[in-house]
Amino acid sequence: MDALTALHTRKASPKLVEPLPTDDELRLIYQAALRAPDHGMLRPWRFLLVKGQARNKLGELFVEAMQPDTEEKRNKLLKAPLRAPMIIIAVSTITEHPKVPAIEQITSTAAAVQNMSLAAHALGYASIWRTGAVAFSDKVKLALDLSVSDEIVGLLYLGSSTYENLPIPTVNIDDHFEEWS
Ligand SMILES: Cc1cc2nc3c(=O)[nH]c(=O)nc-3n(C[C@H](O)[C@H](O)[C@H](O)COP(=O)(O)O)c2cc1C
Repeated sequence: MDALTALHTRKASPKLVEPLPTDDELRLIYQAALRAPDHGMLRPWRFLLVKGQARNKLGELFVEAMQPDTEEKRNKLLKAPLRAPMIIIAVSTITEHPKVPAIEQITSTAAAVQNMSLAAHALGYASIWRTGAVAFSDKVKLALDLSVSDEIVGLLYLGSSTYENLPIPTVNIDDHFEEWS
């Protein structure tokens, strides 16, 4: 798939199943992440790869950290990681830098997430970028052996879409681009 087609047709898929990209394809996806723009070459990115049984462990970790107050919320958290065969937890490890504030390190990691989403799409797979309360919880960060100063920028759920053709929303160019003089 050429680059513009990938950019214009990527669509998040809420339902992801096997097959996952092969190991070689996964490496192509990881390489795409590592081409994210990076002010100061700080390499603020860290990616935790969660597959197979580790997804159940992640669900348990979410429950332990979030302490849900109803059975329904508990089950939702427990099952959340099972919505795809693989989850890539994208973390921005923030370094104090005189010229590169935290927001630039976070946006660099966001670019890496989008690069992976596009690379997966170009290879015929699908993904959805999710966050939610778990991404902003210090308890979740600590349970994942992260520092509270780290930012979980996204959980990229990856796999194959169960949908044939998800509609691409039409967004008017003129609503978002204007000539400035
Ligand atoms: C930072 C970020 C966090 C997001 N978190 C969620 C989320 O927790 N749950 C969700 O359903 N969609 C979330 N989304 C939106 C989806 O990834 C996706 O963009 C949305 O479903 C629209 O689909 P599209 O990207 O194909 O237009 C998030 C997007 C971003 C950029």
